Amino acid sequence: MALSTTRIDELRDELGHLADEAATSQELMQTMVKLLHHRMLKYNWVGFYMLEPGANPPMLALGAFEGAMTPHTRIPLNQGICGAAASSGQTVVVDDVNKDPRYLACSLETKSEIVVPIFVRGNVVGELDIDSHFAAAFSAEHQDFVKYCAALVGKKLEAASA
Ligand code: SME
Repeated sequence: MALSTTRIDELRDELGHLADEAATSQELMQTMVKLLHHRMLKYNWVGFYMLEPGANPPMLALGAFEGAMTPHTRIPLNQGICGAAASSGQTVVVDDVNKDPRYLACSLETKSEIVVPIFVRGNVVGELDIDSHFAAAFSAEHQDFVKYCAALVGKKLEAASA
């Protein structure tokens, strides 16, 4: 079995348990960014952006993250890869950020990025954003895994607001 598959399978199990055990969605997000950043070698910046409640125009605000501080702590929905994912409700994968005019630079070392929306009862409430220093780091296998992580957070948020 490929090394990345083993690591992803292990982390899936571990994160599933953590989601059950976390006292709050905030605690889950904090643990998740740490685990993903420390254990996935090509996940060089891992963070959540959450929609600010009641903001007009809508705005994404930086939440729990691991990696270098980013200048982009608030992102409007019409800007960046982050804005594109939140406004469309679709996962956005960029294999070479330097070729994507939407890209807002966080670190000069970043080569590829994935942003997966987080849903609560069908509405986008935020997203999980991961940057890599490696081009095309987010294969189909990684996309599935990051979607799984975002869905765990969505379920936790949904349970908290039931
Ligand atoms: N690259 C993102 C901005 C966030 S930083 O990567 C942390 C974007 O283009 O929206």
